[in-house]
Amino acid sequence: MIMLNVNGKDHQLEVAPDVPLLWVIREQLKITGTKYGCGLSLCGACTVLVDGKATRSCVTPVSEVAGKKVVTVEGLKEGLGERLRLAWTEEEVPQCGYCQPGQIMAAAALLGETPEPDDAQIDAAMSGNLCRCGTYPRIRRAIHRAARMTPERSES
Ligand code: FES
Ligand code: FES
Repeated sequence: MIMLNVNGKDHQLEVAPDVPLLWVIREQLKITGTKYGCGLSLCGACTVLVDGKATRSCVTPVSEVAGKKVVTVEGLKEGLGERLRLAWTEEEVPQCGYCQPGQIMAAAALLGETPEPDDAQIDAAMSGNLCRCGTYPRIRRAIHRAARMTPERSES
């Protein structure tokens, strides 16, 4: 039995300790915003926050996150989550959209640690999140926009 807190809710799960967190989130909890891409920690599509840190859920055994706070894109709601959602919408970031939950979670981890990152800090923090559609310039603009927003409303 493993205790898992996902998006503020506690779950008790009968699951082998080495099962990747991604499968527990998607298959057992049926929270499907987090995507499977490479399964090898190479693309970032599966990124979630674990105690605020960007974490590749495809290679993280569920036992490693027992007792920690896991947040998926569905759980990123108030404050920073709202700013990111607005900024992503206003910059029209997504193309096919597949990579975007992982991109947003990586951006959330960045802004959680560095509230006003410069281009180099954004590029360094986001370099592990691949986008086949090439939305990188819009992602960068959206992160700057989210950083400039007050928590209550967008700048525009
Ligand atoms: S699916 Fe986890 S990094 Fe690609
Ligand atoms: S928006 Fe299509 S992979 Fe990034």
